[in-house]
Amino acid sequence: MLNKELLDALNEQMNHEFYAAHAYMAMAAYCDNGSYEGFANFYIQQAKEERFHGQKIYDYINDRGEKAVFSAISAPKSDFKNILETFEDGLAQEQDVTRRFYNLSELANKDKDYATISFLNWFLDEQVEEESMFETHIDYLKRIGDDSNTLYLYEKELAARTFNEE
Ligand SMILES: [Fe+2]
Ligand SMILES: [Fe+2]
Repeated sequence: MLNKELLDALNEQMNHEFYAAHAYMAMAAYCDNGSYEGFANFYIQQAKEERFHGQKIYDYINDRGEKAVFSAISAPKSDFKNILETFEDGLAQEQDVTRRFYNLSELANKDKDYATISFLNWFLDEQVEEESMFETHIDYLKRIGDDSNTLYLYEKELAARTFNEE
């Protein structure tokens, strides 16, 4: 059993995680379209991670004896100026998600729902990593600039990225 307001907010966040996966797949498509396969792979793995987050919230709602409710996923942005812009948008998306988890944590605190507070802490830690990772990539891409040889090598590294559920 979950407080109704908290349940609605968790359902909204579950749907938002699937939206985030959608948005990263659109970035992957942009990268693949320009034959930036390493960057495309980065976003494909990122999308898997977001689906995993959605599934995690789904399981939690279920474990608490409630029902997950799915809503329509809105169309994400599908065109970008360049690779850097995808990472800047990615960072903005992660910062928005962090704010959402802060709001969720406040709701759980208000209800003194300690199990949900504990559940949400995992996501708060995860968001620190997500924002930091995007900031690092943005710094690297700005430093690389128009140096296509370095960009090529950097991309090769991202091509090897895989997502493992922990
Ligand atoms: Fe997420
Ligand atoms: Fe994320």
